[in-house]
Amino acid sequence: MKEINVAVTGGAGQIAYSLLPRLVSGETFGKGVKVNLRLIEIPQVVEKLEGTIMELIDCGFDETGNLLATADIEEGVKDADWVLLVGSIPRGIVIDGKKIEERSDLLRINGGIFTDQGEAIGKLAKSDCKILVVGNPANTNALIGMTKAQNTGQQWFAMTALDANRAKAQLAIKAGKDISEVTNMVIWGNHSPTMYPDPYNALIAGQSAADVINDENWIENEYLPLVQQRGKAVIDARGASSAASAANAAIDTVKSVESKTPEGDWFSAAVASDGSYGIPEGIIFGYPLRSDGNGNVEIVQGVELNEFAKSKIEVTTQELKEEKEAVKDLL
Ligand SMILES: NC(=O)c1ccc[n+]([C@@H]2O[C@H](COP(=O)([O-])OP(=O)(O)OC[C@H]3O[C@@H](n4cnc5c(N)ncnc54)[C@H](O)[C@@H]3O)[C@@H](O)[C@H]2O)c1
Repeated sequence: MKEINVAVTGGAGQIAYSLLPRLVSGETFGKGVKVNLRLIEIPQVVEKLEGTIMELIDCGFDETGNLLATADIEEGVKDADWVLLVGSIPRGIVIDGKKIEERSDLLRINGGIFTDQGEAIGKLAKSDCKILVVGNPANTNALIGMTKAQNTGQQWFAMTALDANRAKAQLAIKAGKDISEVTNMVIWGNHSPTMYPDPYNALIAGQSAADVINDENWIENEYLPLVQQRGKAVIDARGASSAASAANAAIDTVKSVESKTPEGDWFSAAVASDGSYGIPEGIIFGYPLRSDGNGNVEIVQGVELNEFAKSKIEVTTQELKEEKEAVKDLL
């Protein structure tokens, strides 16, 4: 049986609880592929992972390989084919008597985590390892990790698939169509409330979603804020941040990278900008992507942007530049 090594940080967190069984069930990497899973946690909670491992064994999946719990990032990422960086410090946590509320504080604390993780991945994970950053602020964490990894064969992604799934769902509901008919969704820019979930290039049954819906007021004043603020709405309603849907989006991203993108379609994730669409190099930016199914992912070129899109993309680009400036001494 083919084997694959997958490392997950934040293994005892709530996203991981939904994510892990689906990584070793055959659903994500395919039937007949054994998944060796390395769960990485901070020393204070690493023991809890023994319980998680018991549950994964008790699921009885044919594709479950060996399972390891560790607080040592180097042990966790050694020879990894995929690393899912889910662990990070949430907003609102109290550290040294100070409640962490400011995005800048969050950036610095989590940035510190991603320097060590990036270095370990660059040095020890496979030379064609794929890394998906879920932990927030995802784009800038990915920038820090990628910069520290210094391994050009590896490919870093920051997750925007949850935003894309949310956007598709809202367009489908508004249009009264099945979500399976919504394709070509791209989240431009940052995984934050400045993201631009593009309704003009998204298609519903092959036609521009904006044309099908034909209601600019709804797009600007209802759809955009709803998608951009959906994470907060879930927290307000559930008392905890999105977990099952975030885990699902991580699985969607891995599958999108691993399989050939259907002709004419694309998927959404943030990758290192190469100057495409006039975005400066040196930030991790949400783009439309295609995979050839053999591990090669490219930014789709030639997607048309109207003035409305350009103005939104300018705002999210500016935010990413500011985030980069806030962590410049970590880069
Ligand atoms: N990109 C997205 O679309 C998206 C969506 C939802 C949540 N998130 C983010 O995902 C992250 C995880 O969410 P959650 O709900 O699972 O949080 P959680 O607090 O339930 O779990 C996070 C886990 O990470 C662990 N952790 C912290 N630092 C670590 C480190 N250095 N190494 C290994 N593990 C570490 C913690 O101990 C904790 O168990 C958060 O940052 C959240 O904001 C992103």
